[in-house]
Amino acid sequence: MSVIENSKLTVVGAGGVGSSVAYAALIRGSARHVALYDIATEKVEAEVLDLAHGTQFTGTSDIIGGSDVSVAEGSHVVVITAGAKQRPGQTRIELAGTNANILKSMLPQLLEVAPNAIYVIVTNPCDVLTVLAQEATGLPPERIFASGTVLDTSRLRWLLGRRAGVSTSSVHAYIVGEHGDTEFPLWSKTTIGTVPILDWQPAEGDPMTVDELDQIAVDVRDAAYKVIQGKGATNYAIGLSSARIVEAILHDEHAVMPVSTVLDDFHGVSGVALSVPSIVSASGAVAIRETQFSASELGLFRRSADALREVADSLRG
Ligand code: 2OP
Repeated sequence: MSVIENSKLTVVGAGGVGSSVAYAALIRGSARHVALYDIATEKVEAEVLDLAHGTQFTGTSDIIGGSDVSVAEGSHVVVITAGAKQRPGQTRIELAGTNANILKSMLPQLLEVAPNAIYVIVTNPCDVLTVLAQEATGLPPERIFASGTVLDTSRLRWLLGRRAGVSTSSVHAYIVGEHGDTEFPLWSKTTIGTVPILDWQPAEGDPMTVDELDQIAVDVRDAAYKVIQGKGATNYAIGLSSARIVEAILHDEHAVMPVSTVLDDFHGVSGVALSVPSIVSASGAVAIRETQFSASELGLFRRSADALREVADSLRG
């Protein structure tokens, strides 16, 4: 593993999500230099000041930012969060047209100042935007991918860990597919330590049942709707999970994460971006082809692929 020296992260978009990515990255020391870029000058300058005022209490990372794209110059990683956000009850897919246009207008300038960066798309619908952005830029698929279901997977592990009475990090589970309504857990591979999920004997209560797991999958799928209903947006958990992806890149970790890359004959699926367990390193992200699905999981995966292909096709016109 080779850690990138003097690493630079640029976060595009100084809204709730972008500012939280920058905040999490500063606190975790994810990159040596953090830049925040947004076209709204007053807003981005205020966010940068607020973050800079706290750097006595963070690590050695520094923060700059502004509304001139040159702040992104020389970045090793660019995390894109700019775009319209979901209103209560609105799906991520409903943002596709608006956010695809915003993304397409920004990418050429970003690529000019940060030609060698790895691009991580957080803006929703992140899977659809990733395939459109990959096609528009011609970047290799490993260099432009979405945060995908890394956050949903964390939500799943938290719920299972609480129910099983073990730490979140001892739950081995993945949400795959769309970061959205067609996502699903790989239950066939879910274990607590090495114990298959349905065999686990919690210290309190009965073992979990298939019905209970189905409900947990629904709760994970609908988690963002619940948070958005209550506070108007999600920001902290996506900030943390994005910072974690940045670390895996900048530290060349070869970490296994369910990010969303444009797939090429992954269990027969090509030309759409979907999350599957992938290796994340300084070269970007590559889907792990050996990942096995049960027959029903394969059906759900193809359903997710078909749904996203339809949306992407409608935007290609
Ligand atoms: C989330 O899952 C809304 O995609 C955002 O928190």
